Amino acid sequence: MGEDIQRLYSAGMRLTSDAHRLLASREDVKHVVDKLLVANLVFVTKEDVEKVISQESKLPTPVEVARSPSFKPSAKDFTPRVKVVQDEDVSGKSRCTGTMDDFVVYFRNRFERMQKLLRARTNSNPFVKSSRLRQNAMQKAILVAMVIGKRITKKGDMVVEVEDDEGQALIFVSAKEKCFKDAKALLNDDIVAFEGKITETFLIAENLMWPDIPVLKERNYTKNDVAIAYLSDLHVGSKFFLEKEFMKFISWLKGNEGNEELAGKVKYIEIAGDVVDGIGVYPSQEKELIVRDIYKQYEMFTKLMDEIPDYITIIVSPGNHDAVRRAEPQPQLPPELLKESRALSIGSPSRLDIEGLRHLVYHGTSLDSIISGISGLSYAKPEEPMLALLKRRHLSPIYGGNPIVPEAHDYMVINDEPDVVHMGHIHKNGSMLYRGTLLLNSGTFQARTEFQVRMGHVPSPCIVPILETASGKLTHLSFKGEETAISR
Ligand SMILES: [Fe+2]
Ligand SMILES: [Fe+2]
Repeated sequence: MGEDIQRLYSAGMRLTSDAHRLLASREDVKHVVDKLLVANLVFVTKEDVEKVISQESKLPTPVEVARSPSFKPSAKDFTPRVKVVQDEDVSGKSRCTGTMDDFVVYFRNRFERMQKLLRARTNSNPFVKSSRLRQNAMQKAILVAMVIGKRITKKGDMVVEVEDDEGQALIFVSAKEKCFKDAKALLNDDIVAFEGKITETFLIAENLMWPDIPVLKERNYTKNDVAIAYLSDLHVGSKFFLEKEFMKFISWLKGNEGNEELAGKVKYIEIAGDVVDGIGVYPSQEKELIVRDIYKQYEMFTKLMDEIPDYITIIVSPGNHDAVRRAEPQPQLPPELLKESRALSIGSPSRLDIEGLRHLVYHGTSLDSIISGISGLSYAKPEEPMLALLKRRHLSPIYGGNPIVPEAHDYMVINDEPDVVHMGHIHKNGSMLYRGTLLLNSGTFQARTEFQVRMGHVPSPCIVPILETASGKLTHLSFKGEETAISR
């Protein structure tokens, strides 16, 4: 028996002999088996196999859109300038086996690198380790430590329990202190610097410092007058994927939908994950799929990418719906899924230099735990939880909030100061300029799902942020409805 058919038996399914014969005769037996596994039947008849095969042949193919004959894209004259920072991309480097030692090494790496960032932020008072606090009683000092707990006292002040690489300490934050507001936002596992006076029992905080972005960081611009279009969360294969609207975006890139000058400037398209809907990502997902074969979903995705003009560089990183490991950091999508597509495949998170602008691309899976962990944050304004991550200089500060692979190098630390931070996952557009860094959430091309209706979450589909890199001008284009609406 072929090993693909064996997978059905291993899943507890039984085949009639004509179903078995039909399957065994097919060259695409692997795809058909994948689809049958999703259908989760007990007895598989010949008719079941035929049904799956007929669905397969009905794979939607994008309608080709011709380039407007008068369209002269300026981006065509530039050679692409993209450089991936290989040291900060886990692809091909994952060495973790998940042992206890791996966790120790991971946390040590995280602490050391965050400590370095925090120490570079200030030099007003001497740094002290938790083990040396008593020797320095009555002095003013700075302690860099990880939060392991916090509580409010009867008088309304706060005691924060912290830990560094030499031991533990208690920080007292008076409700009257300016830094009390920041202390309230502290999450477990946050690594921050507390500055204040040391007593026998506490360090009495006068100041709390996040690793943050320096106040004086200036915004960067590029020499070449080109544009980058940011996408995420296409969810190809889902019945909610808005293909018609996506094709309108492609038609716009080809000079057919107005605003040709901006369309002609687009030299790069960066896609921050969830390019397909995947299979088995959540219970009963198969009811919301039109394409129930993961390979076919990627085939559809690459066909859409092929429609994008060839002078545009496409960069793709994965999300939690994509067919790579779910735990982060996620490696790049394997080449067999992207086939002959010219897309540059990178991990999530990744750092890359586009025309000299330092990009941090991350799908944004941890935004869920950040939104539920810090009061005042919501799905309606994705730029705010994104800022909470940037200030912490860490993409997944709550350990256990979303699955993390404890690699020896913590890829989730935001080591360099990015010019653009691009995320998706929330399905809601948002942007903010913070100390010269542009925070962008690129929304989605998926309509509101039943799950989102139940959660009361309102996405903003078909709105594409486009950055003109020489001027820093950001334009949000809507490809919903009849007209291409432009909002700035
Ligand atoms: Fe998504
Ligand atoms: Fe996602």
